[in-house]
Amino acid sequence: MKTIFSGIQPSGIGTLGNYLGALRNFPPLQENYDCYFCIVDQHAITVPQDRLALRKNIKSLAAFYIAAGIDPNKSTLFIQSEVPAHAQLGWILQCTSYIGELERMTQFKDKSTGKDAVSSALLTYPPLMAADILLYGTDIVPVGEDQKQHLELTRNLAERFNRKYNDIFTVPEVQIPKVGARIMSLTEPTKKMSKSDPNTKSYISLLDEEKQIIKKIKSAVTDSENEIRFDPETKPGVSNLLTIFSLCSSYSIDELESQFKNTGYGPFKEAAAEAVADTLRPIREKYDDLITSSELDDILDHGAEKANRKAMKMLKKAEKALGL
Ligand code: ADP
Ligand code: NA
Repeated sequence: MKTIFSGIQPSGIGTLGNYLGALRNFPPLQENYDCYFCIVDQHAITVPQDRLALRKNIKSLAAFYIAAGIDPNKSTLFIQSEVPAHAQLGWILQCTSYIGELERMTQFKDKSTGKDAVSSALLTYPPLMAADILLYGTDIVPVGEDQKQHLELTRNLAERFNRKYNDIFTVPEVQIPKVGARIMSLTEPTKKMSKSDPNTKSYISLLDEEKQIIKKIKSAVTDSENEIRFDPETKPGVSNLLTIFSLCSSYSIDELESQFKNTGYGPFKEAAAEAVADTLRPIREKYDDLITSSELDDILDHGAEKANRKAMKMLKKAEKALGL
């Protein structure tokens, strides 16, 4: 059976972007793959986090994975920092990577430009991500488009290590969804939607109430044309709403274009907001049940146990190859 790995950072409450670009695609994979889903808390602390908020976000993310359809009996759901092999192999892969290639990562440039205090971990985050993936002999990594460059680096590091030592690592393939791989910010539609955006109006959180969803979509930045047409280059705001609407309904983007041909932006936004609210409602309901139960801790303990067993084997192999 082939192996799948994917991680989400508990750096805030999950967004509609995380759902449409990642989470939503996971449940069907569980039937045919050995799946590892990780709450990557060590990645989250590459930028300062509030201690209590981080605790809460870790728990909340675990609940979202399950509410979105991850079955802990089929998949392994765990917290990164509870499996020390991630940091250990991460170190080895830092020794395998070059500063130059890490400095070229666009996410590093985005997160560090203009900041006067940047943690060194912000630079060495991609080798840790490579470790996350390589520890499980991962064949496929389903992620949004923003992770494509990090995945390419992971492949390079695996190949470099394999060439120099033994063929230890499986070189993983990236799997990016055809639609929804890059949901954009509602306030700056040329930027990706992200939970780490300080402007909370820029994203729909998976915990937003229906009223907030409507408010945010109604005030989403579009353009002055009042024409509903899919053209990400010249109409990024409207195109983003069309993508979101289509993924949250049974309509294709073409169908939506003709359905809202003469309505203007008001009614279009209202209908889009309703589709988003309808999509998130059942997830939110399951989430509310889970977050108050004690089930989550047991699931995460069990997941960490399983992940530790598998990860430790790979770490040992890599250490042995190096002479450690
Ligand atoms: P965030 O920027 O929200 O902190 P993460 O780094 O935690 O995102 O990413 C978790 C998963 O969600 C990854 O697979 C990532 O590719 C995907 N993802 C993040 N933002 C988006 C987006 N705006 N559109 C589509 N997928 C996204
Ligand atoms: Na991110």
